[in-house]
Amino acid sequence: MRESPVVLEASNLSKMYRRGPEEIHALQGVDLFLSAGEVVALVGPSGSGKTTLLNILAGWEHPDTGEISWKGAPLSAPEDLRWGELAIVPQSLGLIEELSVRENVELPVRLRKPRSGAAGTDGIDVDRVLGDFGLSSLGERLPSETSLGEQQRTALARALVLSPRLLMADEPTGHQDVVWTRGVLRALRGAASEGTCCLVATHHRPIVRFADRVLAIRDGRVEAVDAADVVAAGEEL
Ligand SMILES: Nc1ncnc2c1ncn2[C@@H]1O[C@H](COP(=O)(O)OP(=O)(O)O)[C@@H](O)[C@H]1O
Ligand SMILES: [Mg+2]
Repeated sequence: MRESPVVLEASNLSKMYRRGPEEIHALQGVDLFLSAGEVVALVGPSGSGKTTLLNILAGWEHPDTGEISWKGAPLSAPEDLRWGELAIVPQSLGLIEELSVRENVELPVRLRKPRSGAAGTDGIDVDRVLGDFGLSSLGERLPSETSLGEQQRTALARALVLSPRLLMADEPTGHQDVVWTRGVLRALRGAASEGTCCLVATHHRPIVRFADRVLAIRDGRVEAVDAADVVAAGEEL
């Protein structure tokens, strides 16, 4: 039985890419749901369609078939989402190089529609978010003046600063050491405990073990799998 409200539901998503005469069926009838407050790991070998799926759920790419609903209503375009409800950490991170670490993290707060009484970063504790990701002393640096791991944590901090309903992160521990892998997991769990659903595409065993649910992409379809089986499968990760 589902205990938490479903945030996003997708049915029958398919996506085919053409490269010359070649047809690449990246997704073929994907069904999934994501609920508030859960951490979901999305696993599958390289080239299995993880990034394609995240891009489609984010509205960055259009599926050939299928429906996506957001909190029970059809999601026809990403503009339908309220700013700050859906946050994405792409593998390429997408930091703004001209802005400092702190300015990158503050950006979603500054760009949100003004609400009555809310101005600037009012009500949002940017310092706390920077601290959660070990960035407190790096706030004034440009991203290029920090390590790749720190840049990845900056992108995560920026994604979580507005406490989104859904966070989608592509390989978010890919550049982290053991200590900061734990730190990222702690931050994801903290967000989830406040209701954020975290969907994490990953090859990383610690995330698979830590997740509430594991979804595997196989032959273009998504199926729920047991974390222990995935970890035991070794190189399949
Ligand atoms: N823009 C594109 N054009 C053609 N093929 C693509 C494109 N994007 C992804 N693919 C192909 O689709 C499949 C799934 O890719 P992707 O979603 O990036 O996988 P993953 O993130 O699991 O490594 C791969 O075979 C990849 O080569
Ligand atoms: Mg990928």
